[in-house]
Amino acid sequence: MDACFSRRSLLVAGGAGLGALTLAACGGSPVPEVDGVAPGGRIVALADVPVGGVYELSVDGHRVVLAQPTAGTVVGFDATCTHQGCTVRATEGGPLACPCHGSEFDPVTGEVLQGPAVRPLAPFAVTVSGADVVLA
Ligand code: FES
Repeated sequence: MDACFSRRSLLVAGGAGLGALTLAACGGSPVPEVDGVAPGGRIVALADVPVGGVYELSVDGHRVVLAQPTAGTVVGFDATCTHQGCTVRATEGGPLACPCHGSEFDPVTGEVLQGPAVRPLAPFAVTVSGADVVLA
C-alpha cells in the first residue's frame, strides 16, 4: 500500500466551514487537499471537475476521485484500489488505473474493468449544491 504525504506549503483557501485546501502528494504527484469538511461542506467548485473527466484530490487525508459524467452530476470514489490498497490514478480520457498490479476501474461507476481487483471502488458520497461539490 502506498501512502500519501501532505505538502502543506501552499494554502490555497481556508476559513470557517470551507476547510483548508492545500496540496498533497502520493507517489510524487501533488493533488489538492481539503481538510475539515463537514457534511454539506464545500469540497471543490463544480467548475473544477471537468465534464466527462476526473478530478483527483485528498479529503482529510483520504485520496478520492470525483467525476462529472454529465454537466451538474458528480460522482465520487475512494481512490484505494480494492485489490491490495494502492492508490488508483486517473488516466488521460480513460479508466482509473492502479499502478501496482494493473487493475482498472470505470471512473463513473467505480466498477472493475480489468483485474486482478474483483470489487468496485468504494463510493465517496458527494452531491452538487449550487456551484459547489459538497460532502453528502
Ligand atoms: S493493489 Fe491495485 S491492482 Fe493490486
